[in-house]
Amino acid sequence: MQRLIRGRWLVASAGLCLIAGIGPAQAQDHTEYEPADIEYGRSVYLEQCAACHGEDGDGVAGADLRGGRLRRAALDRELVQLIRSGIPGTGMLAFDLDTAEMTGIVAYLRNMTYEIDAATLGDAARGRAIFEGAGDCLSCHRLQGRGLRTGPDLTRIGAVRPLSALRRSLLDPTGTMRPIDRPVELVTADGTRVSGRRLNEDTYTVQILDDDARLRSFDKADLRELRVIEQSPMPAYGGRLDAAELADLLAYLVSLKG
Ligand code: HEC
Ligand code: HEC
Repeated sequence: MQRLIRGRWLVASAGLCLIAGIGPAQAQDHTEYEPADIEYGRSVYLEQCAACHGEDGDGVAGADLRGGRLRRAALDRELVQLIRSGIPGTGMLAFDLDTAEMTGIVAYLRNMTYEIDAATLGDAARGRAIFEGAGDCLSCHRLQGRGLRTGPDLTRIGAVRPLSALRRSLLDPTGTMRPIDRPVELVTADGTRVSGRRLNEDTYTVQILDDDARLRSFDKADLRELRVIEQSPMPAYGGRLDAAELADLLAYLVSLKG
């Protein structure tokens, strides 16, 4: 699994290096975690945390760890701090974890899934029909060579994202948008307007995949305007699909392993 993610970033970085002569994309934000870290984190969790928090993360009243969002730790560094110092005056102890354990536990907690049952995962074949039909996903996403490129290619999405992240993407696309993936609109020195999806940005340059799916690099100093759009173009599907349809769609997404 780790190989898949690396491969993906290698392709992106190699392309960018050719064009811009820069180092590999550093833009890993905190909605993306290595599957290997998540897996390791689960073993640390079961060993050190499950005694109180329960195997499913719902063992402590008022401290539900399921679903990735934590009351006291919105940011990963706050979570690290909380685990290091505990919560004084409560049963939450301080833990002295090494770097790998800490990276793993954070990745695992952020991706802790709800119980996987029939209500969570429906029927993949029905999910496919929604994907290609009512959901209209191909109007923005590419899948196995079909569809448009406004959004990321989903051909291997089931291999690189845990179920919890897929579910969050469907329910809250803007909240889960990876900062680097944001749509950008820019105006060049000669007044040409270009829009696309940001792939990489450093102090001096920005690289985008433009609407015609070409990889392009710009010197920021030469731009008249550079606007990063914070709102995902993807609609939130919570209100558009009912629970059973969402479950079917999730089953289909999970099955997409390339
Ligand atoms: C001895 C029992 C115990 C153990 C072991 C334990 N915790 Fe806790 N933890 C608690 C209690 C009790 C709370 C709730 C404190 C409160 O809110 O009053 C808590 C709260 C938390 C919170 C805050 C949740 C939120 O929504 O903000 C996090 C995060 C957390 N624990 C992570 C961990 C991790 C990670 C481990 C293992 C490395 C761990 N805990 C091990 C008892 C424990
Ligand atoms: C109007 C365009 C649009 C439509 C329609 C759309 N998406 Fe998206 N989607 C995006 C864009 C752009 C992103 C990347 C930015 C973001 O996360 O919002 C994205 C992100 C995602 C992601 C997260 C990808 C990742 O790398 O984690 C998933 C999963 C996803 N979409 C699934 C779907 C599914 C399933 C449908 C159909 C039910 C759908 N999308 C419909 C534009 C769209």
